[in-house]
Amino acid sequence: MLPAQLVDLDPPLLDEVMPAFDAYVFVTPEYNHSTSGALKNALDFLYAEWNNKSAGFVSYGVNGGTRAVEHLRLMMGELQIADVRAQVTLRLLTDFRPAAQQENAVDTMLDQVIAWGLALRPLRGPALGRG
Ligand SMILES: Cc1cc2nc3c(=O)[nH]c(=O)nc-3n(C[C@H](O)[C@H](O)[C@H](O)COP(=O)(O)O)c2cc1C
Repeated sequence: MLPAQLVDLDPPLLDEVMPAFDAYVFVTPEYNHSTSGALKNALDFLYAEWNNKSAGFVSYGVNGGTRAVEHLRLMMGELQIADVRAQVTLRLLTDFRPAAQQENAVDTMLDQVIAWGLALRPLRGPALGRG
């Protein structure tokens, strides 16, 4: 296949014109001790949208997917995302049925994401750009 020319792609005039949300919850599997390629690509695809937002994580895998979240947390600083401490880790063998303990973990994580998402609102003016 020939390399595409930019003009053939017909990109929109401006990308990321309006910020979409105040905060995010990223749900990730663990693949080879990291996150999925699909989520990594989604994070790489945007930039300004992430700046000065808060985020929490839900991970799943054989051991709860904690290593995927550790890798994602390394990316958060570069994306200017404030990632909250609380996280929800689901083990494939035990946690895929309703469990009160996991409900509490979800509530705590969401409370933190919402609080930081609102607190960061004053910082979200014009896009700060990649430096
Ligand atoms: C290529 C591959 C690598 C995986 N690596 C890990 C791993 O390192 N740790 C883990 O706990 N589970 C691992 N798993 C299990 C996945 O976390 C599990 O299959 C999960 O359900 C995948 O999520 P998905 O079905 O939403 O893609 C791996 C699965 C695949 C296919």
